[in-house]
Amino acid sequence: MNAPEIFRHIGQLVTMNPQAKGQTASFAMMPNAALVVEGGQVTWSGSETDLPIDYQNLPFTDCKGRLVTPGLVDAHTHLLYAGNRSHEVALRAEGKSYLQILEAGGGILSTVRQTRQASDHDLRAGVQKRLQTALSHGTTTMEIKTGYDLTAKGELRLLQILKEVQKSSPMRIVITCLAAHAVPPEYQGRGMDYLDHLKVSVLPHIADLAEFVDIFCEAGVFSVEESRSYLETAQQLGLRIKLHVDELQDGQGAELAADLHAASADHCAMTGLRGIEALARAGVPAVILPGTAGYLHHGGMADARALIDRGVSVAIGSDGNPGSSPTESLAMIMPWAAAWLHLVPEEVWAGMTVMGARALDLKDRGGLTPGMAADFLVWDTDDYRYPCYHYGSNLVQEVYLHGTRVV
Ligand code: NIG
Ligand code: FE
Repeated sequence: MNAPEIFRHIGQLVTMNPQAKGQTASFAMMPNAALVVEGGQVTWSGSETDLPIDYQNLPFTDCKGRLVTPGLVDAHTHLLYAGNRSHEVALRAEGKSYLQILEAGGGILSTVRQTRQASDHDLRAGVQKRLQTALSHGTTTMEIKTGYDLTAKGELRLLQILKEVQKSSPMRIVITCLAAHAVPPEYQGRGMDYLDHLKVSVLPHIADLAEFVDIFCEAGVFSVEESRSYLETAQQLGLRIKLHVDELQDGQGAELAADLHAASADHCAMTGLRGIEALARAGVPAVILPGTAGYLHHGGMADARALIDRGVSVAIGSDGNPGSSPTESLAMIMPWAAAWLHLVPEEVWAGMTVMGARALDLKDRGGLTPGMAADFLVWDTDDYRYPCYHYGSNLVQEVYLHGTRVV
């Protein structure tokens, strides 16, 4: 057993309350606090005055009155890709929409062309560089999706690369197979044929590679019926599912996610009350992605207030990807999540920690209560509201993974 590591003089310690149900009830913070880590796990957290006597005379790390919080859990990214899409900025300025760019063979398909040509080495180096950036901005758990090859062989290659990255990274990486990210050029106009191909050539072979299967359920990409058929096959194979739903219009995707008891319904930017109530009834968490809605600026922002008021667990992710949210930093989205979704800081913190963990089905991340992984951040502030207020610079000063300082 390793000697306990003690962190004292924490100005504010955000522990969260991982057992609580609601968004605000999930938030917990205590001033003048201390944290004890043993064997990479939190074994004690609380007010400095309550620090057990056994720990009081041991050497400690002085947090100098700063804010300490759980590491951020980014429950939705697409950070395995080659190239970039900076040319799309001007296309959007000319009035081209996200789907128009995709339909003209650009968008996701332009990243697909670049990713198919990239070597394993370059793809691995690219994702590792992005992970390092994310880590320095406070993301300690990250879901990463495939989806930029769109052939069976190529998607399996991307899953293998992610598996290697997962094994070698000290961060907790969650792998999602998004082979159903778009209809590839080889199957243009035959989306269901492509899904049927994936059902036999990909889904039966990924039990050890992917933790979730995802699909872009959206008018113009994969319909609700097509998505249902694909996801039911995944479930029959014992795979857990997630969905991209209602990103650009309310297509009753959230209802489908509820119906299938998905692990999460993601985007929900245009989901109406019927969909929201279906998610609430089914207990399916939403992963909302305000960075994407803001970046594409097409007008749809998830109704976070309605989701929370009806009891849906609302995770907030970055959607980091080369098209609709080119970033690695979930922390940078904190002020926008607060402003654009009309959330108080406590709700934003819950969305980026415990609720993110819930959407990924992880029991030991997103909080700093005993038994949780000691993944935590020391911030350049003494106030948990500040990261939801100040934008444009990295406020994360130190990052710990399993109690070891890595940044
Ligand atoms: O979540 N909606 C589909 N997929 C991504 C965008 C991927 C891309 O444009 O490359 C999203 O927004
Ligand atoms: Fe996405």
